[in-house]
Amino acid sequence: MVIRPALEGDITPALAVMSQAFDLHLRAPTVHTLVAASGSGVLLVAEDAGEIVGTAASVGFGSSGWLGGVTVVPGARGSGLGRALTEAAIAALGDIETVLLLASTMGRPLYERLGFEAEGRYRVFMSGSTKPEKTVELRDVREADRDAVLALDRAATGEDRSLAVLASLDGAVATPDLSAVALRPPWRALPIIGDPAGATTLLTSLIEPGMRLAVPEENRAAVNLLRLLGREIEPVTRMRRGPAVPWRPEQVWGAFSLFFG
Ligand SMILES: CC(C)(COP(=O)(O)OP(=O)(O)OC[C@H]1O[C@@H](n2cnc3c(N)ncnc32)[C@H](O)[C@@H]1OP(=O)(O)O)[C@@H](O)C(=O)NCCC(=O)NCCS
Repeated sequence: MVIRPALEGDITPALAVMSQAFDLHLRAPTVHTLVAASGSGVLLVAEDAGEIVGTAASVGFGSSGWLGGVTVVPGARGSGLGRALTEAAIAALGDIETVLLLASTMGRPLYERLGFEAEGRYRVFMSGSTKPEKTVELRDVREADRDAVLALDRAATGEDRSLAVLASLDGAVATPDLSAVALRPPWRALPIIGDPAGATTLLTSLIEPGMRLAVPEENRAAVNLLRLLGREIEPVTRMRRGPAVPWRPEQVWGAFSLFFG
């Protein structure tokens, strides 16, 4: 058994292992391939006799970092591989103050054993067939908005998520005053950041059927809106190791993925 960074040829089998573990259909590009191709993250695979039997990824956002995509194939579970992958992905973050993650019910005991503490939940919804409401005029995000969008994201999350934000500006939409922005990552998701009024407009205007949308439970207004727009599925727990990040959950109206909020 060897744990190592994924090579080009590992991406498809690694995504297949993750798809099975998370009951999703993952195809590149995903949040994991974005992270793997960047200088600030890694996608690790566990290989046994030529087969990929586990995965884990991590990405650094300044003084904080996220851990995600931790999976082990069913036949290899229960013998410490999940823990080894998690430790390797954390080690890849190097000298970092705070490690964050969104834990599934299966993953949570593993992270607790490694010193992570629960700090709240993200509620997760599958959007229904609601027709988007075009209530207020929206505008495209332009190159000139780049610094303002990065600042908006930093103020909401307390992190420097430039890697993800800059990969999601093409096709991004904002309220005219840029009080809220809906980003467009190269995978299917609707990350929305900003003030509640603008974010509500963006979410109701841009939501499409069959999207998986996750919002911090502390953002009561977003949870209430998504209860009207979708069907709730199992929540995840935001866990932390290290000092709290000064984030503002009421400004987070959609996650990039269940890798980082
Ligand atoms: C979560 C997952 C990666 C764990 O993989 P694994 O190889 O079985 O994990 P390990 O054998 O390393 O177990 C890690 C620790 O958690 C403990 N643990 C695992 N499952 C547990 C459970 N259901 N209840 C209590 N403890 C549990 C183990 O005893 C072990 O503790 P120890 O190191 O002190 O003995 C695997 O179950 C999986 O792929 N699940 C589906 C995908 C998923 O939910 N991933 C987590 C996303 S956040």
